[in-house]
Amino acid sequence: MDTRIFHLDEINQAAKAIQEGKLVAFPTETVYGLGADATNEKAVKNVYLAKGRPSDNPLIVHVASVEMVEKYASEIPENARKLMTKFWPGSLTIILNIKKGVLSKTVTGGLSTVAFRFPDCQPTLDLIKKAGVPIVGPSANTSGKPSPTTAQHVYHDLHGKIAGIIDNGPTRVGVESTVLDMSTNQPVILRPGAVTKHQIEDVIGSIDLNHHHVGKNETPKAPGMKYKHYAPNAQVYIVDEGTDWKQVVDWIKQQPFDVGMMAEEKILQQESLPMNAIQFSLGKNVADASARLFDGLRQFDDQPNVKAIVTQAFPIKDLGRAYMNRLNKSAGGEHFAIK
Ligand code: TXA
Ligand code: MG
Repeated sequence: MDTRIFHLDEINQAAKAIQEGKLVAFPTETVYGLGADATNEKAVKNVYLAKGRPSDNPLIVHVASVEMVEKYASEIPENARKLMTKFWPGSLTIILNIKKGVLSKTVTGGLSTVAFRFPDCQPTLDLIKKAGVPIVGPSANTSGKPSPTTAQHVYHDLHGKIAGIIDNGPTRVGVESTVLDMSTNQPVILRPGAVTKHQIEDVIGSIDLNHHHVGKNETPKAPGMKYKHYAPNAQVYIVDEGTDWKQVVDWIKQQPFDVGMMAEEKILQQESLPMNAIQFSLGKNVADASARLFDGLRQFDDQPNVKAIVTQAFPIKDLGRAYMNRLNKSAGGEHFAIK
């Protein structure tokens, strides 16, 4: 199958492909999603196949109105409505109890809940409206790889397997949405994202944070959390705050292979780097770093001589919590330490 690139003036054609049960990757403000008609069982199954995604890992349903949520959720609690008003369109995914019999088990991985997201990206809102159905959208990467933040990333992973990709350039936020479970009395953040715990608490009061690493025999609340994630070919090492970058650079010098070095501009400029240090700038702050992280990890996959990647840590607060959550997973929890 040829995978075509849809330009922004071709949303009608992309919507037609969705209606025909085809797979079309779409942009959002966070990462690109792999879209299919959420009400078409066969199309949804093909999403799992194209990604190589385990079938017990449920998909987010993307909507372009709160009315669409009302059609599929058994009820929308008052607090969920408040959050929708405040943060939609935006990077907050809300999990609610599902109305019986309206969406296939394939969408929810057999759970009695369903995740809803109203992305802050006009072309995709137009796509949903024109298709006239909600659109499932896991990140449009091969399962286990860093999420895609450009149409080229999607093409790299999925060309030949999907009908098309809507190209809207690089995404703005770069890490996936905050996933908030509101299906029980006490709301819980299952995945940190750009909408922070504080921002949510300002609207609905105290909530829990539960995205700690899940042990082998535990059942995670967000099934996706138990799988390997965001892993480039080279081993990633987290460079904790307070580490002397001179020591990192010394270590790089001693290695017989190339080492990817992902750090803020000011750090890259300060150090005189050895030949085998391949730099990737994380920009000027944690927002830049979040937007660039997956792109950097992916670029090193194209450089077979890079066998290790050292990546700068940021404080675990606000957006930094989302950044560090993704970095930790891509590193499998490994930190740089002087050997
Ligand atoms: O920013 C995003 O959320 C992107 C863009 C494309 O919208 N989408 C995305 O989807 O990241 P995905 O499938 O890669 O991640 C969704 C996460 C998974 O960890 C999944 O297990 C969890 O949300 N999830 C989905 N439905 C759930 C449910 N009913 N209960 C618990 N967790 C759920
Ligand atoms: Mg994903």
